[in-house]
Amino acid sequence: MDTKKRIRLVVCAVGVLLAVLCIGGLLTGHDLMYHLRNRGALGPLTRDDIQYLDLDTPAPTGKDGTVNASDWASAYPYIVATMGDNSKNSYTVSYLEEDPYLTNIYEGYGFAIDYLSARGHNYTLEDVAKTKRPHPKANCLTCKTPNFAKLVNDQGVGVYSMPFEEVLGMMEENISCYTCHANNPGDAGRRSVTHSYVKKALGTAMENFDSSTLVCGQCHIEYYFTRENSETMMPYHDRPGMTPEAILAYYDSFDFYDWIQESTGTKMLKTQHPEFETFSYGKHAAFLNCADCHMPIEQADDGTIYHSHNLQSPLENETLLSTCARCHGDTDMVNMVHRLQNRVTARETEVGNKLSGLKDALVEAVSAGEMTEEELDAVRALYREAQWFFDFCYVENSEGAHNSELAYRCLDTSEIKILEAMALLGK
Ligand code: HEC
Ligand code: HEC
Ligand code: HEC
Ligand code: HEC
Repeated sequence: MDTKKRIRLVVCAVGVLLAVLCIGGLLTGHDLMYHLRNRGALGPLTRDDIQYLDLDTPAPTGKDGTVNASDWASAYPYIVATMGDNSKNSYTVSYLEEDPYLTNIYEGYGFAIDYLSARGHNYTLEDVAKTKRPHPKANCLTCKTPNFAKLVNDQGVGVYSMPFEEVLGMMEENISCYTCHANNPGDAGRRSVTHSYVKKALGTAMENFDSSTLVCGQCHIEYYFTRENSETMMPYHDRPGMTPEAILAYYDSFDFYDWIQESTGTKMLKTQHPEFETFSYGKHAAFLNCADCHMPIEQADDGTIYHSHNLQSPLENETLLSTCARCHGDTDMVNMVHRLQNRVTARETEVGNKLSGLKDALVEAVSAGEMTEEELDAVRALYREAQWFFDFCYVENSEGAHNSELAYRCLDTSEIKILEAMALLGK
């Protein structure tokens, strides 16, 4: 065989090999997509096993016309009972005790006074009523109860700035059926966005998200209160605007801040629980929704198959853990996730302490009076950004599990800004 022939043969063989790999890849991909789209969730039981009902809406018990959980109890006994189980998740820790550097970074804002970790959905009204953070206005009820969403839907955005205590007295339920299904869970459990700011901010872009992710994204997101009327609002209009970089640019574009920190003279930002954003750029977003990992499909003794409405950590539920195996094989998922979280948390502590050090250095520089306002402003801008990126990772509730790449990107960006700021301060 001459050299030319040999080369042609090799090229040909490589071509055939690539084609086989491609088709194989497509088939595997197609197979996977088929399962995900048509077989639904990935556990021993799937969405195909659920018997979806078409039921009339019962007369509402809610004074405001919301059909509440007890109204659905005879039609959906297991869903209502498992929603009640959210009370079992009652454990909280104080972030301020766990990570003392936070008190320094958040100085001048409510979160430096009282900052407990989240717990189950059945505690929302109790927890918002008793937090020591100042909450003068009704907008703090946005993510706590369907009755507030209904009030906004009926009376408009003026209710956001009503006095908190007055509106709290009108609230009847913690997060409940209306929140994620409006008054229509009887319509085969169809999901409905009931929080008006999601419709306003995303509009037709809502179609770009799975409905079982979007309903959680009504609250598990970064949001802000508008200056004009304290209305709850999302800082983006579609997927490309959901990154920490894009959201920061949006806030910068109208000089938005959550509080002014007196000791440093900085217009500060506070991120809030961006699970929706973090998950949407993560490795699972293309094929799983929030329910797949947080709402196990269970079977009752009478044979009824349903999504548990007790929203749990997948690491604490055998059914959910068995769904991971479909893609992760026999990996010990509890161990794998804990190791990932420990690494992210260690890095968080490292960067958090450096951020606290920058804050001290800036306070010192402000009181020393040796730098011009212009020079100080350059440091303040970097400090504001460093805090934003640090917080975007710190306050996300999965501690890196939803998207470790984004967690590290945020912490690395924060650290770079801290170092730049320290250099300007001559440290
Ligand atoms: C926090 C949001 C949320 C709340 C609150 C909620 N649901 Fe659901 N519900 C969902 C999601 C998400 C699914 C669908 C999961 C999937 O298939 O992706 C669902 C599915 C359903 C289904 C379809 C059958 C099934 O088991 O999948 C019914 C029926 C239903 N819910 C009824 C209710 C009732 C009744 C209540 C109040 C007692 C309620 N839901 C409260 C989010 C919620
Ligand atoms: C109406 C707003 C709202 C919606 C919609 C919502 N959540 Fe929540 N969620 C909250 C709030 C507020 C808390 C914290 C409650 C507390 O600590 O009092 C919470 C807590 C949780 C927790 C417990 C966190 C912990 O650290 O123990 C999980 C898990 C959770 N939500 C998952 C979901 C999922 C999954 C969905 C969608 C099916 C969803 N949530 C929809 C507002 C919401
Ligand atoms: C691939 C599975 C998966 C998907 C999909 C997923 N999560 Fe998670 N989530 C996790 C894991 C793993 C944790 C860490 C649990 C732990 O630390 O015990 C977690 C933690 C959380 C927590 C903190 C709960 C706790 O007990 O500490 C909340 C809240 C949460 N997720 C909400 C969401 C929301 C909202 C979505 C959709 C936007 C979502 N998750 C999608 C796997 C998932
Ligand atoms: C449909 C397939 C699929 C299912 C089901 C699935 N995963 Fe994954 N998961 C993936 C893929 C793909 C990756 C990316 C792997 C990589 O990049 O090496 C991944 C990565 C992860 C990561 C690392 C994420 C990061 O950003 O570093 C964690 C944590 C994880 N999965 C947890 C879970 C848990 C817990 C469950 C079950 C509750 C689960 N996964 C179910 C496909 C899946």
